[in-house]
Amino acid sequence: MISRNNRIVLSCLCLILMTTFTCTTKTDSKTSKSDETLDQKVDSLLALMTIEEKVGQMNLYNGFWEVTGPMPEGGNAQTKYEHLRKGWVGGMLSVRGYENVKKMQQIAVEETRLGIPLIIGFDVIHGYKTLSPIPLAESASWDLEAIEQSARIAAVEASAAGINWTFAPMVDISRDPRWGRVMEGGGEDPYLGSKIAVARVKGFQGDNLSQPNTIAATAKHFAGYGFAEAGREYNTVDISMSKLHNVVLPPFKAAAESGARSFMNSFNDLNGDPVSGSKFLQRDILKGDWNFNGFVVSDWASINEIIYWGRAKNKKEAAEIAATAGSDMDMEGHVYIQELANLVKEGIVPEGIIDEAAGRILRVKFELGLFDDPYKYCNKEREKTVIGQQSHHEGVLDMAKKSIVLLKNESNLLPLKKEGQRIALIGPLANDKNSPLGSWRIASDDNTAVSIYEGLSAYEGNDLVYKKGVDLWVGATAFTKEIKINTTDRSGMTEAVNTARNADVVVMVLGEHGFQSGESRSRTNLDLPGLQQELLEAVFKVNKNIVLVLQNGRPLALEWAAENIPTIVEGWQLGTQTGNAIAQVLYGDYNPSGKLPMTFPRNVGQVPIYYNYKSTGRGTDRENNVFWSHYIDQKNSPLYAFGHGLSYTEFEYSDLTVEGSDFSIGDDIDIFVTVSNVGDYDGKEVVQLYIRDLVGSLVRPVKELKGFELIALKKGESQRVSFTLSKDELGYYNNSGEFIVEPGDFEVFIGGSSETKLKGNFTLN
Ligand code: BGC
Repeated sequence: MISRNNRIVLSCLCLILMTTFTCTTKTDSKTSKSDETLDQKVDSLLALMTIEEKVGQMNLYNGFWEVTGPMPEGGNAQTKYEHLRKGWVGGMLSVRGYENVKKMQQIAVEETRLGIPLIIGFDVIHGYKTLSPIPLAESASWDLEAIEQSARIAAVEASAAGINWTFAPMVDISRDPRWGRVMEGGGEDPYLGSKIAVARVKGFQGDNLSQPNTIAATAKHFAGYGFAEAGREYNTVDISMSKLHNVVLPPFKAAAESGARSFMNSFNDLNGDPVSGSKFLQRDILKGDWNFNGFVVSDWASINEIIYWGRAKNKKEAAEIAATAGSDMDMEGHVYIQELANLVKEGIVPEGIIDEAAGRILRVKFELGLFDDPYKYCNKEREKTVIGQQSHHEGVLDMAKKSIVLLKNESNLLPLKKEGQRIALIGPLANDKNSPLGSWRIASDDNTAVSIYEGLSAYEGNDLVYKKGVDLWVGATAFTKEIKINTTDRSGMTEAVNTARNADVVVMVLGEHGFQSGESRSRTNLDLPGLQQELLEAVFKVNKNIVLVLQNGRPLALEWAAENIPTIVEGWQLGTQTGNAIAQVLYGDYNPSGKLPMTFPRNVGQVPIYYNYKSTGRGTDRENNVFWSHYIDQKNSPLYAFGHGLSYTEFEYSDLTVEGSDFSIGDDIDIFVTVSNVGDYDGKEVVQLYIRDLVGSLVRPVKELKGFELIALKKGESQRVSFTLSKDELGYYNNSGEFIVEPGDFEVFIGGSSETKLKGNFTLN
């Protein structure tokens, strides 16, 4: 019940809000008239708030009890509940569902002094209930429209479940497949990663954040998390300023420019500074140089971890460091709510810092339209009809097909013939309905993916026999500490081998379980876990016609398979429609066009391995010498390069032309190439453009992606594809973080992978 006093304050608040608010909110970070009005609304509200209420806005709690059930008694949950009723909570995470969110929101709106609505956050990473492929897989599509559409579907479903803020996109560039979270990002390249970041932000936020089916996006984890030493989760990060600016920051900058309403910091330190407390990243770069006007949320209790890093003595110091550095909201750390008001009262933290942080959070709440209607995401009917609707299944199936990468198709085993074939389907992941959902699938029910066996069974012209062969692992979840891999039980092996022996084609589905990648899932091996390699080799002995379908959340090192198995399909974890997507590709009803967003190494010893490595003083031109940069037991080249991916048809590239040859800094440079479909199928191709800056004031990478276009060509068709390079693509950041464009000679390469040799030149004067 609202007390009489509350009602009076509330009506005052409404009056102020109504007179100053128009609440038309575009997700535009440039200053405009509506921005100014928004600032006024925020200031008017801040003027009414106590210091505790303002700090309360900076407090984000995890869902704490069955909100529709009885009130909690004692412990953490009771404290959270009391704080909520006092108006000391700005948002909740992981509360979902129309009824639960509504109940929470009612407490905030109807029982607190000022009735400020909560922001409701959730990890909507690759879908809410109807799941798209894991983000790394989606990135393999290089299809920005499809990626945007996939995020749109996720936003529509999540918002129908009461959620208005997602902790995505994750835009951490990483060159280390040992790190389990590579599954969550856009891969290794800052240019591709930036385009994908923008597509995802647009997909989540749409054109107008105040619509009930759009949600605020979060660019995470700011910054450097993907460079954890040795790929070990939560490990230290020590990188140069030029690497930070050229490799790590571009996707974040792109996300900020496209209007992402929040940023999340990360669990790592950056060159000795735990990033939740990094003024350099948050105040100087994000809020300063980039003029970001959204808010920064910490990662889960990462403000407390400043203590464990040994940068703060206690919570009080941690709160001071983080708030001063520009971390606006404390996710489930309880540090701000316990310490900040006192720090202000003691004169240690200026109140202006609290006003700024709370103001940023309130601003986004206004943009979401929560003050107009705090229950706008709580619509029972919408929740019932929208989540899991048919069009969403079609959308995620489309995304899944586009994410598949054909790595090798040597004896043209693919596409499979549709009739008269004996097909043996073998492998622990072949009939798995859970693993394809990946590890971020909180709102999705277990075992709801279409398995590959189910997908292939829809094609009835062949004789399909399925044998598991071996188990991969038993009964774990994303939160199971110990991962039990089967390394001993071979009881199903013989039967599988015998089934394979007489088949025309053997489809083997091997890889990692969905819970083997993701947060806190670093690996030191990049092989097929458990007994899968043994199974693969045993089947190969009796039948060489193998189509290996991989299911994995990171690049794997499969040198033996790449050498011996004629056909390899990278099938990742493709979400709810996995089996249908794989079946349509294997049967040629969809011609694959995916390209790797991350390099596949030959073995773990090559890691980190990436296409845009820098020149060395002793490169390949000295390879006949003993003393050059190489290994004595392995090649330098990867197993599969960044950008690699085949089609059932074949594309030829010719006639690379740079229009003009001498240019001045600031000129646009137009480059053309002819792409021809010379194979037997209609198909799509990602045409990729790379540059090399031959001499620079800092050592330059041997290749850098600076453009790509996805084109569709009918069999026999050709297209002239054009690219324009501007100073944005030709410059780079030096170690002071300044963007410089230097005169000199450049090479430009165009082709279907980063290994392309087709080359042109130009000079910048
Ligand atoms: C992860 C974040 C996630 C948060 C909330 C953390 O452990 O690092 O990416 O958004 O939890 O679930």
